[in-house]
Amino acid sequence: MIKSILCIGAGYVGGPTMAVIAKHCPEVQVVVADINADRVAAWQSGHPPIYEPGLVDVLNASLGRNLRFTADIDGAIRDAEMIFVSVNTPTKAFGRGSGKAADLQYWEKTARSILQNAQGHKIVVEKSTLPVRTAEAMERILQSGNGGARFDILSNPEFLAEGTAIADLEQPDRVLIGGAETADGRAAIEALVEVYAKWVPRERILTTNVWSAELSKLAANAFLAQRVSSINAVSAICESTGANVLEVARAIGSDRRIGASFLKAGVGFGGSCFQKDILNLVYLCEHHGLDEVARYWESVVTMNQLQKRRFVDRMLRAMFNTLADKRIAVFGFAFKADTGDTRDSPAIQVCRELLAEQARVCVTDPQALPAARRDLADAGPRLSFAPDPYEAARSAHAIALLTDWHEYRELDFERLYASMQKPAFLFDGRNLLEAERLYEIGFNVYSIGRPPLSRL
Ligand code: NAD
Ligand code: UGA
Repeated sequence: MIKSILCIGAGYVGGPTMAVIAKHCPEVQVVVADINADRVAAWQSGHPPIYEPGLVDVLNASLGRNLRFTADIDGAIRDAEMIFVSVNTPTKAFGRGSGKAADLQYWEKTARSILQNAQGHKIVVEKSTLPVRTAEAMERILQSGNGGARFDILSNPEFLAEGTAIADLEQPDRVLIGGAETADGRAAIEALVEVYAKWVPRERILTTNVWSAELSKLAANAFLAQRVSSINAVSAICESTGANVLEVARAIGSDRRIGASFLKAGVGFGGSCFQKDILNLVYLCEHHGLDEVARYWESVVTMNQLQKRRFVDRMLRAMFNTLADKRIAVFGFAFKADTGDTRDSPAIQVCRELLAEQARVCVTDPQALPAARRDLADAGPRLSFAPDPYEAARSAHAIALLTDWHEYRELDFERLYASMQKPAFLFDGRNLLEAERLYEIGFNVYSIGRPPLSRL
């Protein structure tokens, strides 16, 4: 059994994943290293730099026992038998493939650090989501040294979702491990299987070749995002025809072949991965001359852009075709509930479009206000922030609900209504609230993919 594990990258994936490994493998020393010293200090103090339900307890159970965080990446590489790489792999914003391909600079830097500092035998595990055949590139970099160390490369993509990361890690639908089909490759796979087998039933640990594992990760995200775009496309038809997307989703989701999950129409998907990973897939298809396949997957992203625009168009139409100088309270800025993460959140685009219409926008969110302030730092004086939703809605013409925070269901909507300008509008971008009750209170209610409840 492996005795020492290092993870390079203490982010949304690296931190929680290693905390769960440390919890289930108390005999293994787990170290998480990052170039960001502030992040390292936050993790090491037991107050993680990310919000994730249940994380603090799991972290503190192992911190100081067999789990620690460090900024000494080189030293940590020397000491580890198995090295996970979980650095960020954002969409490239420059040069060839700009806007689609993965920016591999952080990932390549870690490969070079490993090469410079490793001695003996190391198993290197790709945890970051990477383009297909990246493990091969990693192997070439690592084999380019002068023989000081020997490496086996595995692909072990992560499927956790933010907001449910700990539950997803504790009880994964599957763990996927890709490795070389050689004796050394199989031994490396078995070493990683043994780690997960401490708490994951063996039949849920799938082993494949490296490229299948890499492609499965991109494909899984593309399938999930495609379902969201599909139901959002249906919501557009509902809004034009009088059908109700909740009823349609229930009807189609009851078919066991289709299934009920990921059929919630909304203001569009966000998060750091769906769009990035689909664009990666698009780039891969283009690279291989599969242009129709590329356009097929690209349409999932096109539909998502449309959904965000349609939301603002509907607000504009409902509010007499002008938002200029009207106060709009934006309820929720995180890309989903139970996270403070706003990367690629639909709220960013919606707020920018509202501000372009010269609306006065006040954003509230239980966890994501610090990130929202950074995302909209250039927005100017029409934008404000309020931790308290009642404060955000005071004198507002409309509430636009953009994140499905459970606590928004519990708000006192009579009180909110009383404090707002009339006619008061509520645009529920997540179909979270009870539209009929809000309508009875006096709101003009616009939900996604449902007929409006309006007195106007
Ligand atoms: P993140 O930005 O939260 O964390 C990445 C960390 O890597 C940062 O703390 C950064 O400082 C560190 N880093 C960058 N370069 C480094 C270097 N050279 N040496 C040491 N540390 C370095 O990213 P994340 O959300 O954890 O995602 C990591 C990977 O996992 C991505 O490829 C992503 O696609 C994938 N993924 C993310 C999720 C998710 O829910 N966020 C889920 C599954 C997979
Ligand atoms: C997603 C996948 O679910 C994870 O399996 C994967 O590991 C991860 O991406 C990743 O690779 O980063 P995540 O983005 O954290 O996880 O969150 P999801 O729950 O998938 O939600 C993504 C977006 O889709 C959110 O904006 C959410 O509000 C939206 N969504 C989701 C809908 O609009 N409707 C739905 O029915 C489901």
